[in-house]
Amino acid sequence: MPAKTSPVKPDYPRIVSVPPGPKARKVIALDREWTSPSYIKEYPLVAAGGKGAMVEDVDGNRYIDWMAGIAVSATGYNHPKVVKAIHEAVDKFLHICGTDFYYESMARLCEKLAKTAPGRDKHRVFLTNSGTEAVEGAVKLARYHTKRPHLIAFEGAFHGRSYAAVTLTCSKVKYKAGFGPMLPEVSHLPYDNPYRGGDPMAAAHRLFESKVSPKDVAAVFMEPIQGEGGYIMPRPEFVKAWRRICDEHGILLVFDEIQSGAGRSGKMWACEHFGVEPDVLLTAKGLGSGLPIGAIVAKEKVMTWGQGTHGTTFGGNPVCCAAALATLDLVQDGLADNAARMGARLIAGLRQLQEKHPSIGDVRGTGLMIGVEFVKDRKTKEPAGELVGKLEQLAFRKGLLLLSCGKSVIRVAPPLVLNEHDVDAGLAVLDECLAELGG
Ligand SMILES: Cc1ncc(COP(=O)(O)O)c(C=O)c1O
Repeated sequence: MPAKTSPVKPDYPRIVSVPPGPKARKVIALDREWTSPSYIKEYPLVAAGGKGAMVEDVDGNRYIDWMAGIAVSATGYNHPKVVKAIHEAVDKFLHICGTDFYYESMARLCEKLAKTAPGRDKHRVFLTNSGTEAVEGAVKLARYHTKRPHLIAFEGAFHGRSYAAVTLTCSKVKYKAGFGPMLPEVSHLPYDNPYRGGDPMAAAHRLFESKVSPKDVAAVFMEPIQGEGGYIMPRPEFVKAWRRICDEHGILLVFDEIQSGAGRSGKMWACEHFGVEPDVLLTAKGLGSGLPIGAIVAKEKVMTWGQGTHGTTFGGNPVCCAAALATLDLVQDGLADNAARMGARLIAGLRQLQEKHPSIGDVRGTGLMIGVEFVKDRKTKEPAGELVGKLEQLAFRKGLLLLSCGKSVIRVAPPLVLNEHDVDAGLAVLDECLAELGG
């Protein structure tokens, strides 16, 4: 398939007014007056629009986007096919409620997602408004189906912020501090980190020996590539070991592919890189190219909850379904392949930068889900969090949008329409920033 690359004239990055410019400052002042103080706001980007992998701000500055609004804008900004599908859906009707009634786009999307699920089993699909809601529903489904209480998740995991999801989350303590009590019956175990080493399975054996019977465990929630925790790609043996444990004890293996799925890893689902099939797969983020939609994709034999046990007013609304159908078509029709190609180019370029800049300790990942870990010293591997903070800010002022994760990692998660210019020009900005910061 030919690459569906960014259709934009490569005249960016282009900084015409040091950001935040005058128009941006006005929006920021208004926002600061009225919005919840819990929002983060990484840097003062005030978006006005975009095309392909280029974002333009309200003052006319143009940026290369290497973060896609936290791995969401899968088809880039304003992809004509996605925009057309959304317009057509809007012109028909906005809502009827898929929990209680029928419409074609919902049935078609569920069919499409079920058919992309790895393995031969028949799958069924429940549509949600967000990733968190998919996690929340999967927790309920796992307990309902297995009639077991306990859940296992991993250190460094991010699964969302509602109560079940935030209980499974284990990336930063601020997500939990002051919000307790959390859900009972949840254990966290080490995730595999090839860069930092260690035996992640020893703690699992200890848990089952002394604390929790595997026969009481309903599900293991795993990100096949860890996102917020640091863009960490585990060794296949780790993922396979958990599949074996789940099979042995009748535990459901739930893959949270909310960040890693829908083509981002260079394949439809990241778990395909490991040859491991989950019982339940969760997706959201890039699925709707920016419209809010997620899904629980479960084996039919697992999705045993009865009529009315779980539902939603808005989940899978027709406009979001149209966006998701168009997105999945584009992913299957070349964007996953483009992610693999551009990802390889990015990794090669980042490894060249690693030779030049000692602060880059590790470059890892697959497709357009790449982690660049910064350290103070390559031997001690002490995280260089402060440098990453400065790098994000400086790169923004030079026209490259970055986003951090973990303790000191830049997560490279651009739109899947990224092209050679977006890779090479972004690498040049990164190089310049690191030289300036003495990294
Ligand atoms: C792996 C993973 N799971 C769940 C979520 C929560 O999704 P949402 O923010 O759409 O609720 C996220 C969001 O970053 C995520 O990366």
